[in-house]
Amino acid sequence: MFEQIERVPGDPILGLIDAFNQDVNPSKIDLGVGVYRDAQGHTPILRAVKEAEALLLARETTKSYIGSHGDPQYGQHLLSLVLGSQSPVLEAKRACATQAPGGTGALRLAADFIHKTLPQAKVWVSRPTWPNHLSIFEAAGVPTRDYAYVDAATNSLDFESMLADLQEVAAGDVVLLHACCHNPSGFDLSEHQWQKIADLAEDKGFLPLIDFAYQGFGLGLEEDAYGVRLLAERLPEVIITSSCSKNFGLYRERLGTLIMVAANHDQMQNVKSQVAVVARANYSNPPAHGGAIVTTILESTELTAYWLQELDEMRTRILDLRHAFVNALKPQGLGDKFACIAEQKGMFSYTGLTPEQVDRLRDEYSIYMVRSGRINIAGINDQTLPYLCQAIAKVCQ
Ligand code: LMR
Repeated sequence: MFEQIERVPGDPILGLIDAFNQDVNPSKIDLGVGVYRDAQGHTPILRAVKEAEALLLARETTKSYIGSHGDPQYGQHLLSLVLGSQSPVLEAKRACATQAPGGTGALRLAADFIHKTLPQAKVWVSRPTWPNHLSIFEAAGVPTRDYAYVDAATNSLDFESMLADLQEVAAGDVVLLHACCHNPSGFDLSEHQWQKIADLAEDKGFLPLIDFAYQGFGLGLEEDAYGVRLLAERLPEVIITSSCSKNFGLYRERLGTLIMVAANHDQMQNVKSQVAVVARANYSNPPAHGGAIVTTILESTELTAYWLQELDEMRTRILDLRHAFVNALKPQGLGDKFACIAEQKGMFSYTGLTPEQVDRLRDEYSIYMVRSGRINIAGINDQTLPYLCQAIAKVCQ
């Protein structure tokens, strides 16, 4: 039977890991997958995580299942982190959390929930968006449409076109928004623009699904949650998918959370029961270790202080790299062309490099990035910056 099966291309992002590893050029640079790297090019285990793991090793008493929604204590911590500890949504008991295997797992739960309970809904995604969004909804059998987000000609956020496209969204459709650190572009909505989106959601009756994969990597933990909290407080229903991959550096532990906000407590319980069914059919229970780490950190004042400091260091390093990158491109006459990199937020930048330029950077200089021109800013360091800027200058000639 297998003789009929065709080979398909590798994932546009994860496929870069293998290609990079196989490259023997000592000058190679990996700006592909969205993983934080320190000044030495390592993806460190945070001290808060290491210490929490040591405590867990001593304290853990069972490996029994944790249930379809995961650990309730973890869920409470994530609700506070995402919605705010004083959130009126939590006060009204109209939000629930389900621990999931990564932000991707949370998105898949959301997609399956939409397919099962809102069968007429289409999901609107930004143009461009993280390519896996499209794969997840396709796999779940949920149709997608797209709305304008980045103006390719000027490489900038095109908010007017975004609003115009969202006028076409039918009541009951779902609109996927990136809470902060838009992946792939790095262009985020301002507070004023989030307010306009909230007005439009109220007016049109669409359901926001907010992907919150980078809380703490943009402006800060609280600031990055502005849009999420605004929509959750103003609208009766919102879906949020959060990830602990980046802000706790727990990538391979696979830890994410699906947060469902309903109009009232009773409806929230109905929704929650449906999410349990979806989780059960997917993987039954989430893995426990990542959630136990986060709970241990957030229940210790000392570990929380370490974590906040480490998160701040990661965010600040990325911000500094953005400015250093633009400054290093100035002598090449490219300061203006790439000036937007200093304005974008989070790990990623849309550089405006064409797929052909990206191919040349890979083939001639062993510099790896997504073909859309997206780079992981955290993949740059002081040693690689001059070589990177020279190579970009060559392919831009
Ligand atoms: C990325 O966009 O590089 C990250 O979100 C990792 C992934 O799974 O694609």
